[in-house]
Amino acid sequence: MISKEDADTLEKLSPENGLKFISDKFSDGIVFSTSLGQEDQVITDLIFKNKLPIQVFTLDTGRLFYEHYELLSKNNSRYQSKTKVYFPNPSDVEKYVNEKGINAFYHSVEDRKECCFIRKVKPLNRALENASVWITGLRAEQSENRENMPIIEWDEDRKLYKYNPLIHWTYQEVLDYLEENKVQELSLHKKGFISVGCQPCTRAVEAGENPRAGRWWWENSHKECGLHTH
Ligand code: ADX
Ligand code: SF4
Repeated sequence: MISKEDADTLEKLSPENGLKFISDKFSDGIVFSTSLGQEDQVITDLIFKNKLPIQVFTLDTGRLFYEHYELLSKNNSRYQSKTKVYFPNPSDVEKYVNEKGINAFYHSVEDRKECCFIRKVKPLNRALENASVWITGLRAEQSENRENMPIIEWDEDRKLYKYNPLIHWTYQEVLDYLEENKVQELSLHKKGFISVGCQPCTRAVEAGENPRAGRWWWENSHKECGLHTH
């Protein structure tokens, strides 16, 4: 149970101490979802180097970049702690692909959202089934939808706390942490990719362009996959 005082405390603590605070508070059921992006590499490093009792997991949609697998494998060797991988239900994917097409997400926003639902949201729901706290790498700066997200909140639908330790961090703080701690990252970041999702749905961005402009670039709005728009 997180009180108002606990939430105020988390506001003041560094992400590292916040993760320790949450680990002391809950005996089990703490999980962290990593997309292997830069923010998530910071949190992964904090969890593994402090040996915190937090299950780290990723959702393998089946449409990720080769570089995701490369980094996942590097993480597993560096920390000697495994990131659990969740996959979509094969019959959901087979039905979607055989009825609509292998790249049907380009056809319409509905078809795109259905693909995200099958490949991301449903596996996420499974990963969160017995969780008490769900940790994410969300930052307020990333999008309008994330601007007013609190550091910790009760998710009534999922019946768990959602904790965003980096919510107030700037992108520069993320980069500084990665550099100072020599944390490995997706090699794609050096090629102009900042916010990285599935390979067919992500493109590199130009300097000065909104980092999320590269996500579902052919759509004008709806730039969320449903993981955080509950
Ligand atoms: S998304 O909603 O647009 O896809 P984004 O890439 O910004 O999300 O990542 C925000 C947070 O969502 C990450 O810090 C991570 O906690 C979670 N997340 C996104 N994609 C995945 C994934 N494939 N596996 C696990 N967690 C993910
Ligand atoms: Fe499907 Fe693209 Fe969503 Fe990945 S990001 S689940 S490929 S629509």
